[in-house]
Amino acid sequence: MDKRTFLKVGSLAGAGIVATPLVSSLLGCGSAPSSGEAPHAAPSEGFTLPELGFALEALEPAVDRMTMRIHHGKHHAGYVRKLNAALTNHALSGQSLEAVLASIQASDTGLRNNGGGHFNHALFWNILTPSPNPQDHVPSGILAERITANFGSQEAMLTELAQAASTRFGSGWGWLVQDTHQPDRLFVASTPNQDNPLMTGIVDAEIQGRPILGIDVWEHAYYLNYQNRRTDYVAAILDRVNWSAVAGLMA
Ligand SMILES: [Fe+2]
Repeated sequence: MDKRTFLKVGSLAGAGIVATPLVSSLLGCGSAPSSGEAPHAAPSEGFTLPELGFALEALEPAVDRMTMRIHHGKHHAGYVRKLNAALTNHALSGQSLEAVLASIQASDTGLRNNGGGHFNHALFWNILTPSPNPQDHVPSGILAERITANFGSQEAMLTELAQAASTRFGSGWGWLVQDTHQPDRLFVASTPNQDNPLMTGIVDAEIQGRPILGIDVWEHAYYLNYQNRRTDYVAAILDRVNWSAVAGLMA
């Protein structure tokens, strides 16, 4: 991903949501800021669909090419398009995506569904890898230390995360989240639909935080290949996680 597509996030630091440049800084959420532009400047041309960092078939057999083509090119693109439409003449227009997510209320369904949809999918593509390098294949460094401290072991964390994702009723996401106020604390959560832990005006306080890993459990993510076998899909996704990318999303 071209570094010019990075957006730095500063507007939420004071709100305790994002302490360092984060999530959209790795996600290509929004238009490229020109040199010298304010770090959390508005994407003047609206949000854009980030390119995948790999070929559509690169995740096979975990995720098939057709699913990837529809998921990224239709579903994610649709969220981006509808997000930009929802922001037209909206009071939050011009804010970073994280700022939008932290500010919206439950009744603002257009921003809730499509802002979340864009953010969640952009994060999802970035924490997946088709052929992980050995050093990326398991958590290491401070991420591994935090996982062990919070869950007892990496296996225990994976079990809890898989359980949260697999048992989310209906459509939604399973998350590994960093506590914004206690950075050493990591926890597992799940949210319905396109909600995520950044939505402080919507999700319960105990699951608010900084998402560093998300697993999409909407049927559009797996049904062509897995049908009702969501647990198998979740296991396959966890085998494709780029843990270096996950670590890079921590504050
Ligand atoms: Fe999805």
